Amino acid sequence: MAKRLFSGIQPSGNLHLGNYLGAIKQWVEMQDDNEAIFCIVDLHAITVAQDPAELRRKTLEIAKIYLAAGIDPAKSTLFIQSHVSAHAELGWILNTIARMAELERMTQFKEKSSDVAKRIQQRTLAAKVLQEEVIEEDPGRRLARLQLERESLQRYASVGVGLFDYPVLMAADILLYDTNVVPVGDDQMQHVELTRTLAERFNKRFGETFVIPEGKITKEGARIMGLDDPLKKMSKSAGSVYNYIALTDDAQTVRKKIKKAVTDSGSEIVYHDEKPALKNLINIYTLLSGKTSQEIEKMYVGKGYGDFKTDLAEVIVGFLTPFQERLAAISDDTVLAVLKTGADKARALAAAKMEQVREHVGFLE
Ligand code: TYM
Repeated sequence: MAKRLFSGIQPSGNLHLGNYLGAIKQWVEMQDDNEAIFCIVDLHAITVAQDPAELRRKTLEIAKIYLAAGIDPAKSTLFIQSHVSAHAELGWILNTIARMAELERMTQFKEKSSDVAKRIQQRTLAAKVLQEEVIEEDPGRRLARLQLERESLQRYASVGVGLFDYPVLMAADILLYDTNVVPVGDDQMQHVELTRTLAERFNKRFGETFVIPEGKITKEGARIMGLDDPLKKMSKSAGSVYNYIALTDDAQTVRKKIKKAVTDSGSEIVYHDEKPALKNLINIYTLLSGKTSQEIEKMYVGKGYGDFKTDLAEVIVGFLTPFQERLAAISDDTVLAVLKTGADKARALAAAKMEQVREHVGFLE
């Protein structure tokens, strides 16, 4: 049976292979048999400072990337989050049932707020232990510790409320459309879980209103790791350009980045958890070529990293070149028209849901 899909990407930073393999690729595959809605979440992007002109440019670029990757506007709805004000409205209402402790647990918030929140928790705990055990601390150490604590607190105090509240807005995105399935990368699964919790809580308190959605990840694409560090995910906001392959990288850049990608010890091409760098590269190879990891292992028996990397770079270039040609051929006018139609459709669906929500909450008509 056809299901309602909803997913989105932030128009910030450079879209990379992780975004494509973790999210967009499965969207394209699922749009034929489902009723799909894809969003460009600009309200989420402004939870960290954005240059307004750059934000506008990125928003348009992401919409074009959706189309070039194969999202078909005849099948799927494509729109910009800020064009449908119900997202912000439902986000506010859900804020009133979300709990501080739930949001404090969100890994992405902890990462984006430079781990300050987590460190504060740890330090508060450590301070308690110190007090309880009445450990005599040397005054120099104590001063240094207190200074660190103060700095942490100051940094924590400057973290934006929007960044903290971000998952509640994401829950609103999903719940507005009676979404059944949310195809995402692994890093968003915790937010989908929170969405389920909020939907259940709302339904219990105000009566049946929201469909309880499920997150969906793919086996190999759920967590594409950084090329410069296979223990951290590939990320738009990575410090080094050698962390990721951007969807807009040219062939030369791709070859250089793959050549520089870190590898594991040994020289055999094997797919194994103990070889995380290689496993990541084989996952990328698998997803872009359709070959299984076993087939790839066989192809490189007796060969080394050099051959494997040269071929992998060509597999990536083979995907990116036609993709970038399609991207360049999409005009601003074409994409703006698609986004307008999409927003009109989304607005109508969201308005119907908001009518129910307002009535259930007790707002006067
Ligand atoms: P965002 O913009 O950070 O990422 C977009 C999508 O790409 C996936 N992704 C990855 N997948 C595999 N490996 C990686 N290294 C990798 N990096 C990113 C993400 O999991 C995501 O699916 N909060 C969301 C956007 C959002 C959303 C929503 C998603 C807002 N509202 C409603 C779904 C439904 C985000 O910041 O994704």
